[in-house]
Amino acid sequence: MSQKILITSALPYANGPIHFGHIAGAYLPGDCYARFQRLRGHEVLYLCGSDEHGVAITLSAEMAGRTPKEHVDLFHEINRQFFQKLQFSFDHYSRTTWSGHYRTTQEFFLVLQRKGFIEEKTENHLYSEHEKRFLADRYVVGTCPKCGFTEARGDECQRCASSYEAVDLKNPRSKLSGTPLVLRPSTHLYMRFDLFKDQLKKWLESKSWKENVVRFASSYIDDLRPRAITRDSDWGIPVPGYPGKVFYVWFDAPIGYISAAQEWAQSIAEPQRWKDFWLMDDTKLVQFIGKDNIPFHAIFFPAMLMGQDLPYKLPDELPANEFYLLEGRQFSKSEGWYIDLADFFTHYTTDQIRFAIAANAPETSDSEFSWKDFQMRCNAQLLGKLGNFVHRTLTFVHQSCQGQIPSLCCFNQDDEAFLEQINELTETAAQCFENFHLRKACQALMDLAQAGNVYFDLKKPWFLAKNPSGRAELDACIALCLHCIKTLALIASPLIPESAQKIWNMLGNQSDLAKDSWEQIQKMALSSGQKVAEPHVLFRKIEDDEISRQIEKLGQVIHTQKEIPLTSEPIQYEPLKPAIVFNQFDAIDLRVGQVLEAEKVPKSKKLLKLLVDLGFEKRTIVSGIALSFEPDQLIGKKIIVVANLAPAKIMGIESQGMVLAAGDDAKLELPQIQDLAPGSSVS
Ligand code: 2FM
Ligand code: ZN
Repeated sequence: MSQKILITSALPYANGPIHFGHIAGAYLPGDCYARFQRLRGHEVLYLCGSDEHGVAITLSAEMAGRTPKEHVDLFHEINRQFFQKLQFSFDHYSRTTWSGHYRTTQEFFLVLQRKGFIEEKTENHLYSEHEKRFLADRYVVGTCPKCGFTEARGDECQRCASSYEAVDLKNPRSKLSGTPLVLRPSTHLYMRFDLFKDQLKKWLESKSWKENVVRFASSYIDDLRPRAITRDSDWGIPVPGYPGKVFYVWFDAPIGYISAAQEWAQSIAEPQRWKDFWLMDDTKLVQFIGKDNIPFHAIFFPAMLMGQDLPYKLPDELPANEFYLLEGRQFSKSEGWYIDLADFFTHYTTDQIRFAIAANAPETSDSEFSWKDFQMRCNAQLLGKLGNFVHRTLTFVHQSCQGQIPSLCCFNQDDEAFLEQINELTETAAQCFENFHLRKACQALMDLAQAGNVYFDLKKPWFLAKNPSGRAELDACIALCLHCIKTLALIASPLIPESAQKIWNMLGNQSDLAKDSWEQIQKMALSSGQKVAEPHVLFRKIEDDEISRQIEKLGQVIHTQKEIPLTSEPIQYEPLKPAIVFNQFDAIDLRVGQVLEAEKVPKSKKLLKLLVDLGFEKRTIVSGIALSFEPDQLIGKKIIVVANLAPAKIMGIESQGMVLAAGDDAKLELPQIQDLAPGSSVS
C-alpha cells in the first residue's frame, strides 16, 4: 500500500564547499532511500537545504572579507550545484534565510514561550576581555568536557560529537585571539529541555534504531538541563520581544525541515500541502544525519516538536552514519588532503563516485575513500562484473539473435536455479534499501551481475548457437540473461541512476526508469521480439598510473604566497614602460568582477578558466594565474577585470576580458575588493 514518506537529509551549512566526506553520511544514503521508495510506489517528499545562520558562518565570512549574506548566497549556490552534479533527487532544496523560515521559527518560539517552556535567566557566559565582547559557539575553543579533546568547539565537540554549553569547556579561549576567556553574567532565553525528560525517554525506548543512535541519545536523557537558545548577534533570526538577540543556529536549523516543506508546498501552489507530511500520523518521517547531529535530532528537536500545539511528526527513523575519511585522515583542504572536485569530474563520472561511496558507506564504523578502493570498485566491480555482463549479453543478442529479445520458454534445471537466484537477490536488495544497508545493496547488485556471468559461462551460448537443435535452449538462456539485466537496472537505479537508465534503454525501453514501479518491473516479462540497442561502454577502465598520480597529489600543500620562502636577494625591478597620456589610460574600462566558477584549463599549467560576474553580465575569462591559485580559492573573490579588452581565443576558449594581478607567473597576488558590487567602475 502506498504510504507518505517524508525524507530529510541534514541541512548542510552554507559555509564552504561540501566534499565527498559529507556525502557519505546524510546525503547519498538519503537519496538512494528516496529513489528506492519512489520506485516502490510511495509518495515521497525528499527535502534538504542550506543551514545559513550561526557563528561559524559569521566567522568564515569575516575571514573571507564577505558579509554573511554574500557568504551564504555563494555557498548555497555552490552546494546546490554540487548536489545536482551528484544527481540527488531532492523534491525541494530550501535555505534558512528565506522569509517563511523566519516566520515559522518565531512562531515555534512563541508557542514554546506561551506554554512555559522558555525562561529568561542571567547566568555566566564566556567573555573576552581582549575583544571586549561575549563569545559563543565557534568563537570559542577549549577542552571537551566529555572526551578531553583540547581543540573542541564552543557548542559541540568535533571529535566525540558531544553537544554542551560553552561554559562547560575547560580552559576556554578565544578562537580569534587565543586569549583566555572569563565568566561574566549575561541574560539569555533558555529552553526547558529538562521538562521533556520523561516524554523523551518513553519515546526513545519505543524505537529500535541503530545501537549507536540509541546509546548516544540515551546518554543525554539523564542530564537534561535548560539550554540557551539565544545569542547576541546581528546575524540570525531575531527573537521576538528581545532586540539585539537572535536564535542559536541549532534552534532554527531543524525547523528548516518544516519551513522547507512549506516552501515546497508554495512552489507547487498548494500552500497547505506540507501539513499532509508534517502533521499526519500516517506519514513516515525518516531523517538522514551524520553522527555528530544525533543529539539535536534525537533529543533537542523532538522536544521542540513535543512542545508545540500542532501535532508534528517525530522522526520514525534516524539513520545516522559515522565519519567518512580520505585515505585514513579527515578531509582537509588547508592541508591539501582533499579531492579537487572540478578535477575529479573531468575524469570520472557521478555514478562511479556514488557507487564507490555507497559500497563502502560508514554504516557501522568510520570508513574511508581510498583511490585504490575507488579503482577496484570501478574496474573489478562496475566494469568487470556489471558492465561486462551487460556488454557480452547484448553483443551476443546482436550476433546470434538478430538483435531481438528471444522468447522465454523450456527451462531446464540450470535456468530454474538462475531464475531463483535473480528473485532472491532482488528481494535481498529491496530489504537492504528498506533498512538503510547501502553496502549490502551494492553487494547484492554485484552478486547478481556475477551470477549472470557465471550462468553465461555455464550455458556457453556460443556453442548452442552452432547447433540448430540447441536453439530453444539458447533462446531461453539469452532471454534469461536479458531478464537478469532488466533486474540489474532496477536494483542499480537507486544507486547509480544514470547507468541504470542507460541499461534500461539498451534493452529497448524508452520510459524513465526512476518513475517506474519496482514490483511491475520485477514481474514484467520482456517482450519477445523487442529490439535491443547496440551495447556501448558503461564504465571506463581506470589505469594504475592515473591512480598513482591522484595519490601523489594528496597532501601537496596548496601553493600560496605564504609558503614562498622569504629571500634576501635584491628585487629586480622591471624597467618602466614609456609614458602614456591620460586618455590612453582612461580608454581602459576596469570593473569589479566576482568569480563564480573557476577550473583548470586542460593541458595547461598556467591557465584557469573563470566565470566572472560583472553585475550587468557574466564573462568567461582565461587567466594565467594557475601557478598561484587553486580554482576553489578564487570562488566568491571580487577582483579587477579589464572589461573592454577585445575577446581573444586562448587554448580554444574565448576569453572575454583580463584579470589584473600583481607579480610574476610564479607568485601572483590579486588586488581585492571588499564591499563594492560586481560591475562597479575602477579608476
Ligand atoms: O552539521 C551540520 O552540517 C548542520 N548544518 C546540520 C543541521 S541539520 C538540521 F538541523 F538543519
Ligand atoms: Zn569530545
